[in-house]
Order: sequence, then structure tokens, then C-alpha cells
Amino acid sequence: MNDASAPLQPPSGAAADWTIPQRWSDYSPAEHAMWDRLLARQTEILGDRAVPAFMNGLEVLRIAKPGIPDFAELSEHLGARTGWTVKAVPGLVPDEVFFRHLANRTFVAGRFIRTPDQIDYLPEPDVFHDVFGHVPLLADPVFADYMQAYGEGGLRSLEFGALERLARLYWYTVEFGLIRDGANLKLYGAGIVSSRGESIFALDDFSPNRIAFDLRRVMRSRYRIDDYQQTYFVIDSFDDLLRQTLETDFAPLYRELDATPDIEPATVLNTDRVIHRGDQDHPSAFAGV
Ligand SMILES: [Fe+2]
Repeated sequence: MNDASAPLQPPSGAAADWTIPQRWSDYSPAEHAMWDRLLARQTEILGDRAVPAFMNGLEVLRIAKPGIPDFAELSEHLGARTGWTVKAVPGLVPDEVFFRHLANRTFVAGRFIRTPDQIDYLPEPDVFHDVFGHVPLLADPVFADYMQAYGEGGLRSLEFGALERLARLYWYTVEFGLIRDGANLKLYGAGIVSSRGESIFALDDFSPNRIAFDLRRVMRSRYRIDDYQQTYFVIDSFDDLLRQTLETDFAPLYRELDATPDIEPATVLNTDRVIHRGDQDHPSAFAGV
């Protein structure tokens, strides 16, 4: 979770890298029950919808204590697989702080959990979005490398003033990505798999476009933050996503894209490899993470 408008100094009580103690023992029974309720609901929906690597990665969340995972214990399990660590932060952190953590294989997560009246919508990512949505794929060796590469690319993008373009890559892959699985499409984006409504909408609804992933195309594409996506981009595999990211020389690409117009969220181009052309019939209703 990152935010360009966040203050540059960590709030009092946070370390210089913005991390805070999770204080697992301070969570109330109601907060743990909220996690269990969300976990049960999403696990039931995702069985045949999420990419197998995500379902396999859920194993790392099955730690000894019930309810909200203890980040220290979670990090032991995750670290043994891919070397990643999960640490708590007080809220949104500056982009540079976020990227530096990713580059060092640390995922920073909110420690608070939504309340029952926020079960389907929440303006800021909570521990359920951050941990259930993001952590399982950090147990996949290739996706784990992609996230580190993204953090390193993020730090470089700041030097080129190209943060917005790179943020689009994160949005359309890490948060809202779809992936091929044989003849089917599956979910892997954290913003989808942590949302009951979007877990169904992204795969089944006629409304959104589903277009084959193209790095340049994605970096030109605007996105919406107040509703389900109007276009989803479909990768062939995590290997392919990682390869494209590592093989791209971003500095000339940023210069090239500066002379190229942005693409609106619902637009389909003649050059797109279209998997499904959406009818964009979805009523513009407010939908959450
Ligand atoms: Fe997220």
C-alpha cells in the first residue's frame, strides 16, 4: 500500500522504515472473527477461480494461531519458501518506502481489519486485503521475484518521473490481473481475490474487456479506483510476466510513452489481442476492495 501524497516522515511510533509492531495479542475476538468470516467466504468462492499458485500459497496462512495471522509466524513460513517477510505499517506509506521494502523482499501490510458494516467496501486496504490478497502469491518463487523486480523498477521510475506509468503496471497485474490456465482464465490480482463481488465479476460478467497483457499498452492505460475494472489484462504465465519486466529497458520506454496518448479504461484498440470484448453494461455502482 503506497501513496504519493503520504508525508515523508514516519508518524510517531513507527520506525525509520515506517514499520510498526503488529501487536497480535491486541486484536479482539471480534477482529479475529471478522478475518475468519472473510477467509471462509473467499476460500469457498476461489476454489476453481483463483490460479492454482494462489490456492497453494494459502497454505502459508494456515499457521498455528486462529484468526488474523501473526506476521512474525507468517514470515517464518513465507521466508522458508521464498525469503519474503511481512511487516505492519500504520497506513499508506510513501512510494519510495513501499518500493524499497519490495526490493528487499518485504511486504508491508495494514494491521487493522474492516468492521462488519464494511465487509463489502472499504476505502483503504486492511489486513485482509493485504495479507489474504497479496501474501499467498509471495509463496510462489516466480511471482516473488516479480514483486522484487517491481520494487527495484519502482525506485528507478522515481528518477524518471514515471511513477504513474509503473503504478499502472502494478494495478493491472498485482492488483487486478487475470492469467491463462489452459483453456480457462483464472484470477491472481489481490484486489480481485480479496473481493467477493469482483471475484465473480472479473471472470463471469459480460461487462468488462479481457485483453491479452502487453506491457506498453498497460502502461498507457488509465484505471478506475471507485468501481470494478472495465478492462482486465490477461498474462500467459508468471514466468512470462517476470521475463517481460526484466527484459524491458524502461528508460527509453518511458520517453517513448511520453509522446503517446493515454488510453481510457474501457477503450479497445485495433491492435489489442481481445479475449472478450465487454459490453460495458455494468451499472456504475460503488464497489470495494
Ligand atoms: Fe493491494
